[in-house]
Amino acid sequence: MKKLFLVVVLGFVTILTVGCQNSSNVFDFILDENYDGFVTMATSADYPPYENIVQGANGKNTVEGVDIEIAKAIAHRLNKNLRVVHKGFDFLVEDVRSGKVDFIIAGMTPTPSRAEIIDFSKSYYTEESVVQVVLIHKDNLSLYQSIEDLNSATVRVGAQTGSIQAEFAETFTPLATAKILQDLKELLNNLENKQIDALFTEDEVATTHMNNGYENFIKLQLSSLEGYEGNAVGVKKGNSELLDVINEVIDELLSDGSITTWLSEYSS
Ligand code: ARG
Repeated sequence: MKKLFLVVVLGFVTILTVGCQNSSNVFDFILDENYDGFVTMATSADYPPYENIVQGANGKNTVEGVDIEIAKAIAHRLNKNLRVVHKGFDFLVEDVRSGKVDFIIAGMTPTPSRAEIIDFSKSYYTEESVVQVVLIHKDNLSLYQSIEDLNSATVRVGAQTGSIQAEFAETFTPLATAKILQDLKELLNNLENKQIDALFTEDEVATTHMNNGYENFIKLQLSSLEGYEGNAVGVKKGNSELLDVINEVIDELLSDGSITTWLSEYSS
C-alpha cells in the first residue's frame, strides 16, 4: 500500500514538473581553473545565431551563439566561470527579478514593460533596427502573399510565449487563430508539418534556422512596432555595479568588431 502511495505521489510530481514546462538545462563553462565560482546567466536556447543547443565535440549537448560569447566576456571581466541555464523564454525576466540568476542574455528586446521589472544594458545589436518577419510554408505562397492575407479566422499563426512576436501576432493578425508555444523549434516544426500557417519571428533568427534544415519557408516582411528595438542584457533592478561592468564589456565588443564577427560565425 505504501509503495502504491509512493508511486502515485511520484507520478503526480512527474506530471507537475513536465506539465509546467519549466524544465531547464544547465551548461557550465570553466573559463579559467583559477576563477572562484560561477556567474549565472539565463537564456532560452532556441534562437540562433544568439543561442542554440548543439552537439559538442564530445557528443554531448552544449549551448553556443553570440549571446554565449558575450556572457563569457562578461564572466571573464568578473573573474568567474560561466553557468548557462536554459529554460522557457517566458521564465527569464522573473528569474533575474527574483535573483535566481545574475543576468539574462536571450536576444531580448528591452521593452518598456520589461524595463519596469528589470534593468537593461545598452543594446548590443549592431544594425539600426531588428527586422521582423512572418514565415510561411513555400507550398502556401499563392495563399498568403501579404500579412493581410493571414488575418483571417481560418489561419493559424504561431509565436513564442512571452515574446514581442506574440504581441505582433495579436496586433497584425487579430482575426487569426493564435498558437503560442514556449519552444521556437516546436513552432518551426509545426510550420514544417503545416500544423500552423505562419510564424512570427525575426529575420536573423529565421535565416539561421533556414540555413540549418528548415529550407521550406518563405519570409514575409513585417513593419516593426515602436518601442521594440535592439537586444540587451537584463539584470536585477538596481544592480548598477554589474550593469556598469556589462555596459563596459558591450562597448568593447562592439568597437573591436567581436559581435559582428560572432554574428556571421553563428548564422551560417
Ligand atoms: N526579441 C524577442 C523578444 O524579446 C524574442 C526573443 C526570443 N529569444 C529567445 N532566446 N527565444 O521578445
